[in-house]
Amino acid sequence: MARIRFQSVTKRYANGATAVAGLDLDIADQEFLVLLGPSGCGKSTTLNMIAGLEEISEGALLFDDRTMNNVPAHRRDVAMVFQSYALYPHKSVFENIAFGLRMRRVPEPELRRRVMDAAAKLEIAHLLERRPSQLSGGQRQRVALGRAMVREPSVFLMDEPLSNLDASLRISMRAQIRHLHAQMHSTFVYVTHDQAEALTLADRIVVMRDGTIQQIGSPDDIYERPANLFVASFLGSPAINLLEGALETIGGTLCFRRGALTVPLPACFRGDAREVVLGLRPEDVGPATSEAAQIHGVVDTAMPAGSDQFLGVAVEGAMLFLRVPKDVRVREGEPIGFGLTESRLHLFDRTTGRSLRRAA
Ligand SMILES: Nc1ncnc2c1ncn2[C@@H]1O[C@H](COP(=O)(O)OP(=O)(O)O)[C@@H](O)[C@H]1O
Ligand SMILES: [Mg+2]
Repeated sequence: MARIRFQSVTKRYANGATAVAGLDLDIADQEFLVLLGPSGCGKSTTLNMIAGLEEISEGALLFDDRTMNNVPAHRRDVAMVFQSYALYPHKSVFENIAFGLRMRRVPEPELRRRVMDAAAKLEIAHLLERRPSQLSGGQRQRVALGRAMVREPSVFLMDEPLSNLDASLRISMRAQIRHLHAQMHSTFVYVTHDQAEALTLADRIVVMRDGTIQQIGSPDDIYERPANLFVASFLGSPAINLLEGALETIGGTLCFRRGALTVPLPACFRGDAREVVLGLRPEDVGPATSEAAQIHGVVDTAMPAGSDQFLGVAVEGAMLFLRVPKDVRVREGEPIGFGLTESRLHLFDRTTGRSLRRAA
């Protein structure tokens, strides 16, 4: 059992680089928390401070009510899985998984029970006699997970554990990691730069940039109510469309204006006339007849994508990238109209990048 708290934690490396600045974060016992952000934003540094692999320059790290700053890694009841699985090549799968338990002199029957249990959960029980060289990448990563699981740690840390796997395997491993979390009674902290992985796995996501937290929330919070332009752009594939324009009140309704385009905004947004950015996710439009359409444009490109098609649509000097059902008939160079779902629009201050959504 462990609740993990960062209180104003800063990490400066010896070369003077500030990797994490003033981090405040409260991770609940047995939560699945994902640290998400681009390369270099401080995710691994944050994880390594929890593990005790990096010292904390300022602030406090607590497990439950105990300050951990000076507690060495091996006294933290933490297990960690990295991107590179680093298995012992000359040991069997069984001995690789058992290694940490042997070091701790766990009695043989208990050791066997734990290894067999982990292997069953990871569906690698039939591979226990093999050497790592006789395994696929996905199987090796499951052995690495098993090696951490058998420790039955209070805190389970994972740093981009699926990055070396191919796309389809990553998706099935995500499901397996969710199951692991449900079966173990550990707090999970998981680092990734892959927004889809974060959205699938997390109870809560922490979006980081340049060593600071941009937003903390459930996957729905982060995707549907991004706090700023950075978060809005980082989540979603293809990325959200961002249209620059101005705010204007027309007949008592706040509207987004860009050239001939006027989009009435729902009451959840506030703001007086100023430069703004309208955010529109590719999937949040529907084809509409030209009378009903709220956005008019010209089809620039149409790209089939299996069940859907992606359209590049020129609107008021900008190019929107939109997803529509495959059966919508479009021709490049022809006009097209779309309807919008007001509740799915996003609006940001162009200067600060902050969302103009009212606090809920
Ligand atoms: N050992 C180190 N010495 C100096 N700077 C480091 C060290 N490790 C990481 N950094 C720097 O700290 C920042 C955050 O790095 P890191 O936590 O590894 O980011 P992420 O895991 O999000 O890619 C980066 O600017 C990186 O260059
Ligand atoms: Mg990293």
